[in-house]
Amino acid sequence: MVSFPQLRLRRLRRSEALRNLVRETDVRTANLIYPLFIEEGRHIRQEIDAMPGIYRFSPDVLAAEVEEISRLGIPGVLLFGIPVRKDERGSSAIDPEGIIPQAIKTIKNIAPKLLVITDVCLCEYTSHGHCGIICNDCVDNDQTLPLLAEMALAHAAAGADMVAPSDMMDGRIKAIREALDNKGFTEMPIMSYAAKYASAFYGPFREAAGSAPQFGDRRSYQMESGNVREALREVEQDISEGADIVMIKPALAYLDVIRSVRDTFTHPVAAYNVSGEYSMVKAAVRQGWLDERRAVMEILTAIRRAGADIIISYHAKEVAGWLSEKE
Ligand code: PBG
Repeated sequence: MVSFPQLRLRRLRRSEALRNLVRETDVRTANLIYPLFIEEGRHIRQEIDAMPGIYRFSPDVLAAEVEEISRLGIPGVLLFGIPVRKDERGSSAIDPEGIIPQAIKTIKNIAPKLLVITDVCLCEYTSHGHCGIICNDCVDNDQTLPLLAEMALAHAAAGADMVAPSDMMDGRIKAIREALDNKGFTEMPIMSYAAKYASAFYGPFREAAGSAPQFGDRRSYQMESGNVREALREVEQDISEGADIVMIKPALAYLDVIRSVRDTFTHPVAAYNVSGEYSMVKAAVRQGWLDERRAVMEILTAIRRAGADIIISYHAKEVAGWLSEKE
């Protein structure tokens, strides 16, 4: 065994080239997905207060944004819809001409190769802001499933490349897979928000999407932050029902969960670097307290090192820009 002074770990850190040569984990633009908020209406380009640099767009003004995303080499976007009409059952979510079907068609016209992934969840469409149908003051699992399946079908029919259910109802992957297969969408992948925790870090998103629950909270369907074994059961359930990609959300406070899922299953793993994680960095950067580029790259590297293949991040455009400067 060699030991100090023959052993010197600093030898491989002496130059940038050496450090690059032995780097174990990289962030690549090809692994990033950029979320987009699409609001029904015209001429809307509204910055979200708590998320500087992130906007809600109406479909008619999406072109510049979508072109920029494609030019940066970001492979995909994840769409969230903000409808004009909300009701108890979230009916506008299943409208084949609804806000997300409109956005899918618009984006596919502008950038046919960009992967269009859609969030499948009712919370932005229901008047009460919950992710499912309310029955006796409770979010009813089984009554929600057919609506989610129909929502996924509307997205598939409009030309989505992948659907991403985020509601945390039991059995939704099975319901969605069956509906897609029955209608001939056998090739449509499902990226399941498999382990989604009830998190404070969704705060800015709820402002952005207008989806805060009007009563109660989401703890009867989203997970408790202390649980890892339960996350593995959630992932196992979704895989057994046909999920193609499994997601852990949020990312930063759940790196150990990402690692456990990575070590336990062979499916591709995605991590959602959520709104609050973005806002925290932006706030500190605005105060002059953090170097944005270094902080963001360190965070995304950590998410990759924990085992995520895919990262959904509001920083994706900035990161893609920085990565292209390096080459
Ligand atoms: C639900 C959904 C949420 C997010 C993605 N999908 C919010 C929630 O569960 O309240 C959060 C994303 C983020 O915070 O960036 N449709």
